[in-house]
Amino acid sequence: MFPTINPTQTAAWKALLAHHAEMKTVQIKDLFKKDPKRFEKMSIQFNEILFDYSKNIITDQTLEKLQQLAEDCQVKNAVKSIFDGEKINGTEHRAVMHMALRNFSGQPMNIDGEDIMPEVRETRQKMKAFCEKIHSGEWKGYSGKKIKNIVNIGIGGSDLGPVMVTEALKPYWIEGIQAYFVSNVDGTQIVEILKNLDPEETLFTIASKTFTTQETMTNAQTARDWFLKSAKDEQFVAKHFVALSTNGEGVKKFGIDPENMFVFWDWVGGRYSLWSSIGLSIALTIGYDHFEELLKGAESTDHHFRTTDFKENIPVIMALVGLWYTNFFGSETEAIFPYDQYMHRFPAYFQQGNMESNGKHTDRNGNDVTYSTGPIVWGEPGTNGQHAFYQLVHQGTHLIPCDFIAPAISHNPVGDHHKILVSNFIAQTEALMNGKNAEQVAAELKDTGMEKSEMEKLIPFKVFTGNKPTNSFLLKEITPFSLGALTALYEHKIFVQGVIWNIFSFDQWGVELGKQLATNVLPELDNNDKIDSHDASTNGLINAYKNWRKV
Ligand code: F6P
Repeated sequence: MFPTINPTQTAAWKALLAHHAEMKTVQIKDLFKKDPKRFEKMSIQFNEILFDYSKNIITDQTLEKLQQLAEDCQVKNAVKSIFDGEKINGTEHRAVMHMALRNFSGQPMNIDGEDIMPEVRETRQKMKAFCEKIHSGEWKGYSGKKIKNIVNIGIGGSDLGPVMVTEALKPYWIEGIQAYFVSNVDGTQIVEILKNLDPEETLFTIASKTFTTQETMTNAQTARDWFLKSAKDEQFVAKHFVALSTNGEGVKKFGIDPENMFVFWDWVGGRYSLWSSIGLSIALTIGYDHFEELLKGAESTDHHFRTTDFKENIPVIMALVGLWYTNFFGSETEAIFPYDQYMHRFPAYFQQGNMESNGKHTDRNGNDVTYSTGPIVWGEPGTNGQHAFYQLVHQGTHLIPCDFIAPAISHNPVGDHHKILVSNFIAQTEALMNGKNAEQVAAELKDTGMEKSEMEKLIPFKVFTGNKPTNSFLLKEITPFSLGALTALYEHKIFVQGVIWNIFSFDQWGVELGKQLATNVLPELDNNDKIDSHDASTNGLINAYKNWRKV
């Protein structure tokens, strides 16, 4: 049974509150001095990913208490529930089974007593066959040309996953294939992309779980019009448009041949859908075999998560350590800094993954929570971030736990670039932990020959308090397999936190209101009448827009 426990009522939560009072002044660097085995104890190597969580404000005792919290909140039962296909998405009465999409074990995975694996395998086969036809040139555009451009049209989970993965795996792109992604309803994006493309060589993957999303439907229609301007015959649409969706009716209504539809199911959440047919643009770009490697990497994490003792279980530890800061230190945000340019969309991907999953204030019993839930997630690649916002991370007033991610082997080993990159990746976590005290600053300034009075004025500005917590993920190399494994680690972290926070992590009602109100405003923009049906600000904005726009 999926638990519905208020975490604050557990003995472990209370013990953690008391423990925090002892820990809040503890310095991580002192913990290293006291325990020479700290790194060995607080790092785990899994596949070719080294997860180091030793630079956190935690002791063995903290970890024991956090583990107890997981126990008190019945996380083990929750893990069983999700893998058993229980309808843990309680507000939509759906199972959450994206792990089935990457299950190659030959074992069944059931929902309502029915094995869903045959359908999953069938769709994978269809994707594979389609990729082969595109890559071999057997599938041709309407004028007989080979398909060279893949344009994925989708938004949210139907965009961010494919973008994140194709960008992260650019070294694996198939020669002769270029991928493009259109998500924003701002016409600028699609216009800028299409202006350089030849419709005869372009395939559109229309990615939408619901096939009703306004942005995607608008962009898909624009793409269709653009295509028909040169193809001139509707029958050619079949060669250039495929749909990735759960909504067969919607796909048909849009005019895409059901033969060209790659299905997935309501038990795949939008932000967990890159593993499904939503990943077709990935498979078309990096090749189906590499796509399968990505799935297999994620499968290895599923296995680790499901079978490893919680004390050695990476997603569980990531979740507990994160929660320690959110709920006991009061930190409101978490940052992800990939030291790999190809991974530049990884923070954005988990911004949705985390914030849409755990940005909730109603618990699983329908009550308002009295504690913080999902953190604000953000980040940019290193080293760029160092010259932008690290100032605040080092010397600001917020405590921001950060994840640092880097590959040991670069896909582009040019000159000293990678060594410099990695030295920054390593030095930043060291600097965030150690800081620099007034004596150290004074000694440095003295060496420059600065006068004492001048030195005294400057010292407070140059002090770094340190003790900023970080996790490091050192991957041997960014490959489809390691990226799949890393991505699934973060997914399960989010799941474990949602379980403990007693919220439903797999719905997203919070995106509905804005959509609804935009639907009300849209017809009001059709004419030049003065609007007075809203509050004064909303009326004012609508009327100002109407005055300025070109009619
Ligand atoms: O923004 C809400 C949301 O439903 C996301 O969860 C989802 O990833 C996105 O919209 C796109 O939805 P769809 O795939 O149905 O077009």
